[in-house]
Amino acid sequence: MAEPILTINGVTKDYPAVRAVNNLTLSINRGEAHGLIGENGAGKSTLMKMLSGLEHPTAGSITFDGKPLNLCTPAEAMKLGIAMIHQELNLIGELSVADNIFLGRERTTLGLVDRGSAETAALKLLNQLGSNVSPRTRVNRLSIADQQLVEIAKALSCEARLLIMDEPTAVLSERETTALFRVINQMRLHQGVTIIYISHILPEVRRLCDRITVLRDGQYVKTVEPREADDAELARLMVGRDLGDLFPQRAPHLPDTVLEVRNFFVDGWVRGAGLDLHRGEIVGLAGLVGSGRTEFAEAIAGLRKRRSGSVSIIGEPADIRSPIDAIRHRIAYVSEDRKLRGLHLDLSITENSTLANLPTYGFPLLNRSARQAAANQHAQKLGTRCSSVRQRVGSLSGGNQQKVALAKWLDTKPNVLLLDEPTRGVDIGAKQEIYQLIHGLAAEGKSILMISSEMPELIGLCHRILVMRNGRIVGSLPGERATESDIMHLAAGLRENRVA
Ligand SMILES: Nc1ncnc2c1ncn2[C@@H]1O[C@H](COP(=O)(O)OP(=O)(O)OP(=O)(O)O)[C@@H](O)[C@H]1O
Ligand SMILES: [Mg+2]
Repeated sequence: MAEPILTINGVTKDYPAVRAVNNLTLSINRGEAHGLIGENGAGKSTLMKMLSGLEHPTAGSITFDGKPLNLCTPAEAMKLGIAMIHQELNLIGELSVADNIFLGRERTTLGLVDRGSAETAALKLLNQLGSNVSPRTRVNRLSIADQQLVEIAKALSCEARLLIMDEPTAVLSERETTALFRVINQMRLHQGVTIIYISHILPEVRRLCDRITVLRDGQYVKTVEPREADDAELARLMVGRDLGDLFPQRAPHLPDTVLEVRNFFVDGWVRGAGLDLHRGEIVGLAGLVGSGRTEFAEAIAGLRKRRSGSVSIIGEPADIRSPIDAIRHRIAYVSEDRKLRGLHLDLSITENSTLANLPTYGFPLLNRSARQAAANQHAQKLGTRCSSVRQRVGSLSGGNQQKVALAKWLDTKPNVLLLDEPTRGVDIGAKQEIYQLIHGLAAEGKSILMISSEMPELIGLCHRILVMRNGRIVGSLPGERATESDIMHLAAGLRENRVA
């Protein structure tokens, strides 16, 4: 007989402009892996923050392990064995991996911090996760995927009884995800740990979880077992309607070349990569984590120094050495890392949406109403959920932050858009909206390069898929005929079809 470890009783959480969680009742069984899904802004993270002491319910009560849970701080939650891996990373860049993992719980010998034993313990945790990062590395030198693994190691290190994971795999590769799932299952088996797992990658949730609860607009919708509902049914429960085809019909592109990139070299990452983008074409860039996709795109957009290589735009050489040069040439790069490079979380939606295009708004004397109007237009087009465009971006849900990052670059009216994992952390309904938006931009004659680790997305969306490995383009596949296995073979170096 299943016994609950956690009971949430009629919990409500109000923010000034929005009821994020609305009279929610739910119980989680001891030792189960419980999936939590719902659209962007449905209230998933808010609910979890109340379980980990970061937020406090406006009304209702929570019982953990038979006792009322009244948390004031995350440290109290940790003491009770509740650990949370956050959607947005929470690490201190200047500190080492080991220091981050044991922050606030430093190991001491005779009153002195014992670095050696912390490093050994950190190494063991990281190895379990299939990571080969050194515990001594400074965190700001790591890729986002590696940082996520450090965040996970940190939660694992405190012997949690309830482990809450808020989109832990959004930045992980297939291999790292598999390693993570192995660790999660071991923890459940050997230590009876209970898991609450939030993700927008529905097949993953169904693979890992015993039961899945759907939230919509802060309210409880339904709890199902994975075999009772396929992905389409889960999506329907999340969105409240049938989504139909996820991908729009592919329209043909024009034959003229808009962007020509040749022979790019970026130290440590890119070793002779090039590509062509045609007018109205959507090109996918696939590859494993570490293949150099992001670095290549950053170099094209002038964000990263290249040692050699040339760019032409509509047949004319273009010397792009800085982001300003790129904007001038109507090339926009939407970063995969919206917290660090894409957005200013303390500024409003309006400020963020118009930030890359300030001169148009009469910089330095800015035209406020014009900025607001532009921000409103983008928010409407992208379906950004907010109380108003004056809302601080930091208080938006993860997926809606992603839409503001897109708005910021659309505002520069680019001809070429380089999108780096544009649907990461975005719910399935919003994904469909972003796909339609990308098709709409292509139909307007814009050329799009889309980096994505979700192969079905590249196959469903792109005219052509380029595969990158070890800093080179190792293959080119026609979108409508490519298969996941074709892409994987090229990405892993099991096959080569070198086409420019
Ligand atoms: N600090 C805050 N101040 C004001 N509103 C907030 C704050 N945090 C969250 N919200 C609002 O509460 C609602 C629920 O947000 P929450 O982050 O819980 O969504 P979510 O389900 O985790 O979405 P996602 O899948 O995008 O991460 C949203 O409307 C969001 O804008
Ligand atoms: Mg969230």
